[in-house]
Order: sequence, then C-alpha cells, then structure tokens
Amino acid sequence: MINLISIICGRIFNRLLHFCLLFLVFHNCSAIDNSTITPTQAITDSQTLSSTGGVFKLGFFSPPNSTHRYIGIWYEFDPRTIVWVANRDNPLTDSTGTLRITDDGNLVVSDGRGVVFWTTDMSNISTPTNSVAELLDTGNFVLRLLTDVVWQSFDHPTNTLLPGMNIGGSIVTGKKLELTSWKSESDPSTGIFSAGPELSNANNPQLIIWRNGS
Ligand SMILES: *[C@@H]1O[C@H](CO)[C@@H](O)[C@H](O)[C@H]1NC(C)=O
Ligand SMILES: *[C@@H]1O[C@H](CO)[C@@H](O)[C@H](O)[C@H]1NC(C)=O
Ligand SMILES: *[C@@H]1O[C@H](CO)[C@@H](O)[C@H](O)[C@H]1NC(C)=O
Repeated sequence: MINLISIICGRIFNRLLHFCLLFLVFHNCSAIDNSTITPTQAITDSQTLSSTGGVFKLGFFSPPNSTHRYIGIWYEFDPRTIVWVANRDNPLTDSTGTLRITDDGNLVVSDGRGVVFWTTDMSNISTPTNSVAELLDTGNFVLRLLTDVVWQSFDHPTNTLLPGMNIGGSIVTGKKLELTSWKSESDPSTGIFSAGPELSNANNPQLIIWRNGS
C-alpha cells in the first residue's frame, strides 16, 4: 500500500516537474521581447517591442471606450500612460495591422489589405536594407541606417514631453515642434490645444499654450 502510494506520488511529481520545465521553457521564450524592427521582422497587432531596460513598450493599443487601433508608446509599468501615437489621425478599425520596414526603408503601419495608415515618408533613404528601428529606454523610437538616425519619434511629438526631448522651432524655416492635445481621452487625434515656445520673441522666449492656433 505504502509502495503504491509512493509510486503514484512519484508519477504525479514527475508530471508536475515536467509541467514546470515546460512552463519555464515557454515562459523564457515569451520573455524574448525585442526592442527592434528589421526589414525581415515586423510586429503584428498582438506583438510589442520592449526597450532594452524594460522602461517603455511600443505596439498597437486602443484608448478607453474605443475599438480603434493605434501604434503608440507607453510606460511598461503603466500601459494607460501613452506618451506617443504614430497614426493618431488615421486609426485602424480592426486588428489586422502591422508595423514594418518596407523595401524603401520607411516605417509603415498598414492593415491586412495593405492599406497604409501611417509612414515615416522619407524619400532619401539610400541603403534601405540596413534600416533598423529601435525603441530606446528614453521613450524615443529611432529609425537608423547603419549608425545614422534618419528619423526619430522625438522629432514628431504628440501630447507628451519626455526628458531628452526638445520642443521649439526655427523662425527661419518656420518649422515648429509643438505638443498638441488629444481630442479626448478616447481619441488621440490632433486636438485644439498646442504648446510650445513663442518664436517671434527670440530674446525673451516664453512657453505658450494656444487654442486653435491663436
Ligand atoms: C525576437 O528576435 C529573435 C531573434 O531575431 C526572434 O527569434 C524572436 O522570434 C523575436 N521575438 C519576437 C517576440 O518577435
Ligand atoms: C467610458 O464609458 C463609460 C460608460 O459610458 C464612462 O463612464 C467612462 O467615463 C468612459 N471613459 C472615458 C475615458 O471616456
Ligand atoms: C532626409 O530628408 C529629411 C527631410 O525629408 C531630412 O530631415 C534628413 O536629414 C535627410 N536624411 C538624409 C540621410 O539625407
């Protein structure tokens, strides 16, 4: 009787051990979270990128009370804090989206039918096969050609200023980097408020918040 019990216990123990080992193997596999996208490695709606130190994540999300899908960056510890949105004015309505590097070296968000919802739209990427996009621990998403940064999300702010990011502009070129509000908590599209420095008074710069640009 005692023998029988110990055999059964032994079997159960073996099964448990087996299960635990399988669990560990799978657990480790799913923990291989990449921080980069390459021309051969896209992300789909259910996948995310993790910055190497695990501070930020990038992937598809839906805001509260919305079924629209957007590519965004959020804090790993608080997925509700979205710090950047790519296709803010052009959401997907289903979960067939991918973020990939296309043949011309640009980052592109498209749906299952190949309709493009957002692109970095650079016409001057000389050797596109060397493009790599990486999510950094600063929250910056950079597109690199070999070692040159050819595009970065910090140059395309949405509503959040992160450490290391600049807002400002040039009176000469008229180019401005501003923060713009979301329309609502459920809709990240370009809202009516923007914030940035007043450029016309270069000697005495002030931070201004505009409503509808005035
Ligand atoms: C991460 O990258 C490795 C090596 O390129 C790849 O084998 C793995 O499938 C990737 N993981 C994810 C979640 O994309
Ligand atoms: C979402 O909808 C619920 C129910 O209508 C509402 O109570 C809640 O405030 C909404 N949340 C946001 C962020 O709009
Ligand atoms: C490509 O053009 C963009 C403007 O469209 C410019 O900001 C960038 O510096 C250029 N990059 C290279 C590598 O020439």
